[in-house]
Amino acid sequence: MDLLEILEFPDPRLRTTAKPVKNVDGKIADLADQMLEAMYVAPGIGLAATQVNVHLELIVVDVTEDKDSPIVLINPTIINTEGELETAEGCLSVPGFFEPVNRAEMITIEAINTAGNPFTMEASGLLAVCIQHEMDHLKGKLFVDYLSSTKRQMIRKKLLKQQKQR
Ligand code: NI
Repeated sequence: MDLLEILEFPDPRLRTTAKPVKNVDGKIADLADQMLEAMYVAPGIGLAATQVNVHLELIVVDVTEDKDSPIVLINPTIINTEGELETAEGCLSVPGFFEPVNRAEMITIEAINTAGNPFTMEASGLLAVCIQHEMDHLKGKLFVDYLSSTKRQMIRKKLLKQQKQR
């Protein structure tokens, strides 16, 4: 199986709003596995289905150093947030750029796993930031949207130039 291709800003497909997954079946589990593979190879700490041009509410994350703790969240909802945390964020769809973004420091999420079972989890720090970043992708939102329009345009120009040179 070929690696999934990751869309890059300013690809308009990244602006698509994802739809909830209706049936958590083998196809969804396969997609999650392929997304994890693409994420680890990139390498990155999170990937949303939107980024591989599949517009379903599915994200994968693994913020551990050993890359041995994959988390798959299907139809995730944030039901509680606490605190505030600013970190330098990057994105596999915005390669090479890292800019400070403000997020909640702690979140509680409800989601479904690949076995189709609902669960609730709490996350804080980098994991919380990563999940919020990936969930934004499902709404067609990118971390560059939090930056000044000057900065966003600068990133857009540089990436378009890089994409042309390929
Ligand atoms: Ni991203």
